[in-house]
Amino acid sequence: MNTLLVELGDRSYPIYIGAGLLNQPELYTRCIKAKQVVVITNETIAPLYLNKVLNSLGNFTVETVILPDGEQFKTLEYVTQIFDTLLSHKFSRNATLIALGGGVIGDMGGFAAACYQRGIAFIQIPTTLLAQVDSSVGGKTGVNHPLGKNMIGAFYQPQCVIADADVLDTLDDRQLAAGLAEVIKYGLIRDKIFFEWLETNIDRLLTRDKVALAYAIEQSCLNKAQVVSEDETETGVRATLNLGHTFGHAIETGSGYGTYLHGEAVAIGTCQAADLSRRKGWLTDADVERIINLFKRCHLPTTPPDNLNSDRFLELMAVDKKNVNGQIRLILLHSIGVATLPIDIDKNLLLETLNTYGRI
Ligand code: NAD
Ligand code: GLY
Repeated sequence: MNTLLVELGDRSYPIYIGAGLLNQPELYTRCIKAKQVVVITNETIAPLYLNKVLNSLGNFTVETVILPDGEQFKTLEYVTQIFDTLLSHKFSRNATLIALGGGVIGDMGGFAAACYQRGIAFIQIPTTLLAQVDSSVGGKTGVNHPLGKNMIGAFYQPQCVIADADVLDTLDDRQLAAGLAEVIKYGLIRDKIFFEWLETNIDRLLTRDKVALAYAIEQSCLNKAQVVSEDETETGVRATLNLGHTFGHAIETGSGYGTYLHGEAVAIGTCQAADLSRRKGWLTDADVERIINLFKRCHLPTTPPDNLNSDRFLELMAVDKKNVNGQIRLILLHSIGVATLPIDIDKNLLLETLNTYGRI
């Protein structure tokens, strides 16, 4: 097992990465302070892994909440179901919430933990590659609103993250590829050497070579932990983690939550951001080709859906947390491995990308 630290002063926490971690009770129990524990998961993950977690929690009073599976259920309504369970079982402020699942369960569970009695402890047990490399680390929690993705939420850090690589065995190929989109992101925004490693090793990751997967998870978490330690609440460098996400969120919202996987939408959005970076004169044609090619090798989509025209994109991109006074701000790339901070985007240049990239 490898342990990384997210350094946030007295709220610092470990990320445990390794195989067989779900069966190691001491990892959980060392950060559970009282008897009451609630495990939040969904209908798909429960039959696969809930019992393993419950077996590791033998000495605690455990309730479970099993939510329906899907991005479309990442809403306040379903977070309320978590509160219903906590209140009906008289959970107190020193209870612990465990989020066992992908990014949807992690975001919802974390948000419920942030809100319940103004905050209870929580543990992230991410079960998708995307959640292991991104969403479980850094404390962004929340739910979607019909008018915008992740628009309701809180920064709230977990006590620890337990990333058990074995659970990826049951993840389907499409979900694995979606996670790789966020892995590639770290290379693009701040780690050219890692990007080049990915170009060489992407086939190993796609065939689930355990050594390669463990390396990719560790490098991703290392990059994320460093960014979060530097800028927990996204007043600066943390925004670079949003490369491709403004386009991506527009694609997710505009296509109906659940049509595109988050990582798929991010892959398309990152290609659009790369195209715009080329139009700014920063990336070369060859750089953009390299980026698109790496996503394609993962069988990820790289062009926007036909039914989202530029007007609709602009409308959707106007609802983004990086925007200031209605001005669309994006993360672009100065080069592979170096991202910009959020920058105001000239509308005409943006329209060129929206109307041209992937449209011909
Ligand atoms: P997800 O949580 O919907 O999981 C994907 C699918 O895989 C689901 O059907 C799930 O039930 C299933 N699944 C999960 N683990 C499995 C396993 N081990 N075996 C078999 N099936 C499994 O999607 P995701 O890609 O993990 O997360 C996407 C969400 O994360 C989005 O809502 C996105 O906004 C959010 N996100 C949050 C952050 C953050 O910083 N908080 C960062 C990135 C993404
Ligand atoms: N996934 C973006 C962030 O955590 O900031």
